[in-house]
Amino acid sequence: MTSARTPLRRRRFLAGSAALAALALSRTGTSEAGARIPRAQRPLRLLVLGGPRFLGVHTAEYALARGHSLTFFNRGRTNAERLPQVERILGDRNGPLDGLAGREWDAVLDHSGYVPRQVRRAAELLAPRVRRYLFVSSVSVYPDFTVPRDEDSPVGRLEDETVEQVDGATYGPLKALCERAAQAVFGAERSTIIRPGLIVGPEDNTDRFTWWPARAARGGDFIAPGSPADRIQCIDARDLAAFMVRALERDISGTYNVVSPPGRFTMGELVNESVRAARQRARPAEPPMPVWLPAEFLAAQGVQPWSDLPVWLPATGDSTAFAATPVQRALAQGLAIRPLADTVRDTLRWHQGRPLAEREKLKAGIDAAREQAVLTAWRRRGAIAEG
Ligand SMILES: NC(=O)c1ccc[n+]([C@@H]2O[C@H](COP(=O)([O-])OP(=O)(O)OC[C@H]3O[C@@H](n4cnc5c(N)ncnc54)[C@H](OP(=O)(O)O)[C@@H]3O)[C@@H](O)[C@H]2O)c1
Repeated sequence: MTSARTPLRRRRFLAGSAALAALALSRTGTSEAGARIPRAQRPLRLLVLGGPRFLGVHTAEYALARGHSLTFFNRGRTNAERLPQVERILGDRNGPLDGLAGREWDAVLDHSGYVPRQVRRAAELLAPRVRRYLFVSSVSVYPDFTVPRDEDSPVGRLEDETVEQVDGATYGPLKALCERAAQAVFGAERSTIIRPGLIVGPEDNTDRFTWWPARAARGGDFIAPGSPADRIQCIDARDLAAFMVRALERDISGTYNVVSPPGRFTMGELVNESVRAARQRARPAEPPMPVWLPAEFLAAQGVQPWSDLPVWLPATGDSTAFAATPVQRALAQGLAIRPLADTVRDTLRWHQGRPLAEREKLKAGIDAAREQAVLTAWRRRGAIAEG
């Protein structure tokens, strides 16, 4: 503390430190999660085609922390109260795009394009007044994962390219057509195509990754699928957001798979970190105890990988290389992957703050009664083998 009696030299130093501290603060932003993020050298004006849901929340938080200004274009149906400091243009990209007319942005991030018509319309309208179009696609563009799929691998095709029904079979090929639509309008030099794998972390509205820490937090025996060494791939939405915003700052073109590098994460790490987080944060009455069940036993019980036990897919058939998607191109452009433990911890923390109804009824994961029936069948099998 300075006072009238503080020697002049010391007072000057203190004033200088305060000014430096203030300057440092103005050069760093703080995301909602509190992480210090340095400011970008040059602020950008960004248009997000999409709103404050999951990826949109993290993209906006990261972009704001970097000092960029942001506009959401969305229908205002999801999380309308989130991030009130972000400008809104209300509209449906299937309807009139009048709200976008006559405005200029440095770049557009398209989070919400699912059919090529949507992308073409937005791109054609924006191309004269926006430098770069970044389209959020998916690794689902690859027709299968019999072998690892890098960015030059062929993409899935539709027999009828006018189809607009988005389902399990058409989602990937439609995303590939969306990519093509963005590139056709903006050209290869002014477009950036991002192909994320499974996007995970706080705010995830699908509950797939969330299932694991949430299940561990309930305590008791739970199914851990396959083997602890089984590989998984995912991308924390916050790492994806950082990669995308930095790509726009550096004005980079090209197509990028964006997911954790093959072999970085395993099912064992996901389960163990979920147990650790549950013990620390939820302290359930019964300690969480994973019971590793072989893939063949789960298949015989009719338990479905991915839908019943999310994030996990046995490495067979079309999914042989599902967890082996190469990401060298994104790593070379600075993709940073946080430890899985951080994602698990933050996801559980977020999950615990959700309304009770959302916590009690997850959208993914095996039903509790069925899970216990499968575990009972496993114990009986063991008892018969021993007897
Ligand atoms: N989740 C994953 O694991 C995963 C993996 C790979 C790729 N992706 C891709 O990542 C992107 C983001 O996924 P997400 O699940 O966060 O997206 P989403 O829920 O489908 O939509 C994101 C936002 O877009 C807005 N929106 C949707 N339809 C709109 C329309 N017709 N007009 C205007 N705004 C519209 C929504 O706000 P309003 O409802 O308020 O309009 C919402 O805020 C998607 O492109 C998805 O394909 C996801």
